[in-house]
Amino acid sequence: MIWETVLAKFRELFGDEGEIGVYFAPGRVNLIGEHTDYNGGHVFPCALTIGTYGVARKREDKKLRFYSMNFEELGVIESSVEGLKPEKEADWTNYPKGVIWAFGEKGMKVDCGMDLVLFGNIPNGSGLSSSASVEVLTGAILRDMFGFEVTNQDLALIGQYSENKFNGVNCGIMDQFAIAMGKAGHAIFLDTATLKYEYAPIKLENAKIVISCSNKKRGLGDSKYNERRSECESALAQIKEVIEINALGDLTEEQFEEHKDAIKDEVCRRRAKHAVYENQRTVKAVEALKNNDIALFGELMNASHVSLRDDYEVTGIELDTLVEEAWKVDGVIGSRMTGAGFGGCTVSIVKDEAVDNFIEKVSAAYKEKIGYAADFYVVEIGDGPVKLA
Ligand code: GLA
Repeated sequence: MIWETVLAKFRELFGDEGEIGVYFAPGRVNLIGEHTDYNGGHVFPCALTIGTYGVARKREDKKLRFYSMNFEELGVIESSVEGLKPEKEADWTNYPKGVIWAFGEKGMKVDCGMDLVLFGNIPNGSGLSSSASVEVLTGAILRDMFGFEVTNQDLALIGQYSENKFNGVNCGIMDQFAIAMGKAGHAIFLDTATLKYEYAPIKLENAKIVISCSNKKRGLGDSKYNERRSECESALAQIKEVIEINALGDLTEEQFEEHKDAIKDEVCRRRAKHAVYENQRTVKAVEALKNNDIALFGELMNASHVSLRDDYEVTGIELDTLVEEAWKVDGVIGSRMTGAGFGGCTVSIVKDEAVDNFIEKVSAAYKEKIGYAADFYVVEIGDGPVKLA
């Protein structure tokens, strides 16, 4: 078992006295509803069975000792719970530190330190939310060790707050919510305007969810993520002059078409179009799933990719190649980029009997065109954070 290896590493580094807890938080994949969560729209993500394992123990002093089995070359990184502040260009420890800081900001002061060893089996920078996974994991550990009274939804909000304010990434709520609220076998249909949500069973008869990882790394901070947000904000401000709305997600396609000329800048108009249409597509996709119309669900996934490629412009040659090659393979129900874009992964729904052929074909075409290999994962939908031991 993976967690036993992480526990062994903890004991080797930090000894085995005291109360040691073992925890897990998943990664996530978004099935549809991309770049809608900061536009008051809907998203439809699910938690995965891959994620981050953490072994932790409270300390008597103020010291923080962190070690990641994914970044062994960095060794043990020490810090203190006092005076935590965001550091630009810092290492992965900014994520747990950010969450400790965020608990303090929310009136739950973490008044002593801890030892923490992490291991994640989500590929780093893959767009499967390894950072949100670490944030929710840290929150779950703090809740358990310090007895803070917070719900899983609070863990999501605290994680997002720390990512926004401590790590300077203006992300929406989707990733942390999908992870903190994950439920095996279900995706979460979340209205990001109200945080109302519904679990939708994903019963793919004779099909699998396949993630193709482009191996083009991305970090939200260095991507054009924040730029897209401001383009949407600017579009919203202009369209608000002609129709009373709070967010682009309030608009139907018809309303958008009627009022779009209020958005003067052509680029901002396309960004807004994506936000509006993608939100409506997400609502339709969940409806299709309820009607057991998986073919329509797949078509909506494909349309989502086209919109992200042409109107939102967050794909790039790597993701486009993975998706366009996937579309050529028989037995592919739908395929699109997932997450922020600019690199990272795609998600495809592939019929059972076509999975091997899919991997072979897409893998060969990708290597040929891009020059390096992609990785493929057949994934399962898992639960939110848990204490394992
Ligand atoms: C990243 C962000 C999310 C969301 C997606 C795009 O994953 O963290 O909040 O905006 O990009 O859908």
